[in-house]
Amino acid sequence: MTDQMPVTTVNAKTVTLPDAQTVTHVRHWTDRLFSFRVKRPASLRFRSGEFVMLGLMGDSGKPLLRAYSIASPAWDDELEFYSIKVPDGPLTSRLQHVREGEQIILRTKPVGTLVLDALLPGNRLWLFATGTGIAPFASLVRDPETYERYAEVVLMHTCRDVAELDYGRKLVESIRADDLLAELIGEDFADRLRYYPSTTREPSATMGRITDNLLTGKVLADLAIDGISPDKDRGMVCGSFEFIKDMKAVLEGFGLEEGANSDPKHYVVEKAFVGDGI
Ligand code: FAD
Ligand code: A2P
Repeated sequence: MTDQMPVTTVNAKTVTLPDAQTVTHVRHWTDRLFSFRVKRPASLRFRSGEFVMLGLMGDSGKPLLRAYSIASPAWDDELEFYSIKVPDGPLTSRLQHVREGEQIILRTKPVGTLVLDALLPGNRLWLFATGTGIAPFASLVRDPETYERYAEVVLMHTCRDVAELDYGRKLVESIRADDLLAELIGEDFADRLRYYPSTTREPSATMGRITDNLLTGKVLADLAIDGISPDKDRGMVCGSFEFIKDMKAVLEGFGLEEGANSDPKHYVVEKAFVGDGI
């Protein structure tokens, strides 16, 4: 019958296309973190910073889906995801073993608040992430539109250990070496992306929580930025519930107000995962 969707198998269960997507690349960064890419379904249009639902077929025969930020930019032919490995996590205990050529389930309805349209125009965009919270920002820092809207983009990423910063470090290196982006945005764009990684539990060049480094003025001094104000600064926050709560207080302290898709203001937040706090 021509009006029926074609079907394929995912984990030996039948899935109606176009929900099944082929994995094209997998990279393990640490024993807790990996990234993977899938072919981008033609029907998927998204704004950089949004998330989708993806997963595998569950034992019950129903899809086992979780929210995942799309880490690749809106122009890319493939979709990239950056994932935690939760040892006993229903999805990631299995997803971490996925290999190139295998299929995952991907729902093509992107949503989310970490989008450029949810902020009022400004001069400087701050991206504040802990852990896998860097994923939506990996999309935004690769999107030329981000640099069209902002003169300067500051990516702050904090993890416990140095190895957990690797994904972000490689990401920034690859952006700075990207001739196509330089052509699209202008030769000076690499200087307009400021990168401020830090660790909290293993010694590294820059130590400390994002909140502390903002409140003490350390990051401002290190980057020679004279202050944060609602006149010119905009922010996006992605991390744990506690991190978001503390960051809201810091940003409100600078006079910034929280916005949303329907009501753009100075900063927006999104949880990188649902944990004990909620
Ligand atoms: P779950 O049962 O979902 O989680 C078990 C426990 O593991 C949680 O209670 C929490 O304590 C911890 N945990 C879950 N996810 C994380 C995480 N990312 N970092 C640290 N601890 C975690 N996860 C990603 O890895 N990458 C993403 O890009 C991503 N984007 C998300 C976007 C949104 C809007 C939300 C709400 C969640 C996102 N998550 C992301 C979390 C993701 O949906 C799953 O929770 C994660 O894949 C683990 O699934 P699980 O079934 O193995 O374990
Ligand atoms: P810390 O090591 O001081 O707890 P996690 O791996 O637990 O998700 O944490 C990721 C990073 O986020 C860690 O560097 C952690 O610092 C930091 N972090 C956790 N909670 C907060 C918070 N409330 N405010 C700022 N940083 C936080």
